[in-house]
Amino acid sequence: MRYADLHQRSITDPNGFWMEQAQAIDWVKPPSKALFDENAPIYEWFNDGMVNTCWNALDRHVEAGRGEQVAVIHDSPVTNSITKLTYTEMRDRVAALAGALAAKGVTKGDRVIIYMPMVPEALMAMLACGRLGAIHSVVFGGFAAHELAVRINDAQPKCIIAASCGIEPGRVVAYKPLLDGAIMEANHKPDFCVVLQRAALEAELLDGRDHDWDVFVKGASPAECVPVEGNHPSYILYTSGTTGQPKGVIRATAGYLVALQWSMKNIYNVEPGEVFWTASDVGWVVGHSYICYGPLIAGSTTVVFEGKPVGTPDAGTFWRVISEHRVKSFFTAPTAFRAVKREDPKGEYVKKYDLSCLKTVYLAGERADPDTIHWAQQQLDVPVIDHWWQTETGWAIAANPMGFEPLPVKIGSPSVAMPGYDVQVLDEGGHPVGPGILGAIAIKLPLPPGTLPNLWNAEARFRKSYLEQFPGYYATGDAGYMDEDGYVYIMARTDDVINVAGHRLSTGAMEEVLASHPDVAECAVIGVSDELKGQLPLGFLCLNKGTTRDAADVVKDSVKLVRDQIGPVAAFKLAVVVDRLPKTRSGKILRATMVSIADGKEFKMPATIDDPAILDEIRTALQSLGYAQD
Ligand code: COA
Ligand code: AMP
Repeated sequence: MRYADLHQRSITDPNGFWMEQAQAIDWVKPPSKALFDENAPIYEWFNDGMVNTCWNALDRHVEAGRGEQVAVIHDSPVTNSITKLTYTEMRDRVAALAGALAAKGVTKGDRVIIYMPMVPEALMAMLACGRLGAIHSVVFGGFAAHELAVRINDAQPKCIIAASCGIEPGRVVAYKPLLDGAIMEANHKPDFCVVLQRAALEAELLDGRDHDWDVFVKGASPAECVPVEGNHPSYILYTSGTTGQPKGVIRATAGYLVALQWSMKNIYNVEPGEVFWTASDVGWVVGHSYICYGPLIAGSTTVVFEGKPVGTPDAGTFWRVISEHRVKSFFTAPTAFRAVKREDPKGEYVKKYDLSCLKTVYLAGERADPDTIHWAQQQLDVPVIDHWWQTETGWAIAANPMGFEPLPVKIGSPSVAMPGYDVQVLDEGGHPVGPGILGAIAIKLPLPPGTLPNLWNAEARFRKSYLEQFPGYYATGDAGYMDEDGYVYIMARTDDVINVAGHRLSTGAMEEVLASHPDVAECAVIGVSDELKGQLPLGFLCLNKGTTRDAADVVKDSVKLVRDQIGPVAAFKLAVVVDRLPKTRSGKILRATMVSIADGKEFKMPATIDDPAILDEIRTALQSLGYAQD
């Protein structure tokens, strides 16, 4: 069957198509049907099946005789160590952790927050939750205590599992003070915490609340896998929206298993026993799906990499890891390749390693610029596949099905819609537009299995953010077009979300933080183009009349404030004081116009602008930071 036929069938016969795919996972009780559309436009999948994530990711491979195969390789240049864990070892350690959690009262449906760096124990914590039917929420280590507190309040975890520290090049990040600060700030308090003590920096534990991981699991009776309903939430993953309150994306259990299993062979061309490496972080959706769940569900070997593309120790790290662990498919963000390319444009490091094992490279997380793709293709001599997805979808919306039918690569496009995604480009009135015409990219409902059924504790927000703009469609928040062959081109976001080094950030959230500064009367944050990180946030600050503080001091405060409140991951280092912000006559800040000026792009003077002269002031301010060059 050709890919186009497969896709067509997934849209016209979703029940038949997904029930067939569902046979590739183990069920405690098979579902009677795939799609549950009784509450449309809220759709769910496989509701009446019973299933367990951890069983599918670990136990079933041990039962099938793959117990001695390596499941997880932890390659950590920052601690100078490599550790390998087999499927049997993973199962036993996860069962013990789950047993210890169960003994402390964690049961199906309880939430558990995980705040850990790139160590195998992070995967064990996720899988132990899955074993019990508990709902995990992993929080990225680069977020500050306040962001963790916001998530604690929303998810109301019974337990938090953390590590004593993370290791960034040149500094050890103490996680425990951040954890303590977050718990202090949050209104909800967890019953207990489990802390993995790392040699680089051991944490002081609070008597009665904190447990040392090693002591906690010692002697625990292993827990069995608890069957859950197909639509039971397996995790909540918070992602940036347009305000400071992140959106808690829910991932339902069975659809995710089915979709990831399908994707491993058909998109990533990885078979059981082969090695798949995603260089991202478990705190992001890419890490959930393709560091932890996807490779393990498919019975392959996953690499957990604790390092950076450059500087740990050099720009050859990626190639060393690929060569040493015989990686077949490699997935990273374009920004990581840009970092390597900047240090090694001619690919001198590439030549040092035998990369014959590498068959395909996958990029996602941000727009893949043609220069980066060309460079990677030239250096590595394998197909470099861009694919497009979001935290909300959990797996690729558009990709090239390399393991099913490799399609011609069109540089600048993440290729075509994956099964179950009826991707359409709509005009402002919600009408589909023809090939080559720019519009809002929307997906006709229902979304396929694996995608979000709802937001945690926020159904009204779910409907408003995604379903109401174009009734009958899911609004992706991305704009772009499709060509005559159905290839999608993603051009920009339609909201205030920016993409910094493949990390999705909210300018609205940063504005909320800046506005809390006592000297700031008004502010705006925009995303300006950056050669390495794709975009960088830049803040404009209008100070209160009569303030005596020096503008430079307020700028310095504002940078510190965002780092302390949101975290270093926001990479907020650029801000400038201006007298006024450009606005429409109705008072809307003209952020898009400021972005065009900053990036030196031509723009049309907005007809509704209140005072065009302000744009010259903005240009001068941007030039003082090295932007808005002709
Ligand atoms: N814990 C604590 N701090 C963290 C962190 C973590 N897990 N991850 C990043 N940070 C910090 C960094 O140390 C940096 O701090 P600094 O301002 O003191 O230098 C800050 O957050 C910004 O980090 P980052 O955006 O990663 O920039 P960088 O300069 O450290 O590295 C790249 C640049 C391009 C090498 C890096 O961004 C990268 O590898 N990106 C890959 C993107 C990716 O995997 N995205 C996931 C989606 S697929
Ligand atoms: P996140 O939820 O953090 O994965 O971010 C999702 C957003 O990143 C998308 O809505 C896009 O704006 C952007 N994005 C992800 N992958 C791509 C891609 N391949 N091309 C263009 N933009 C992408």
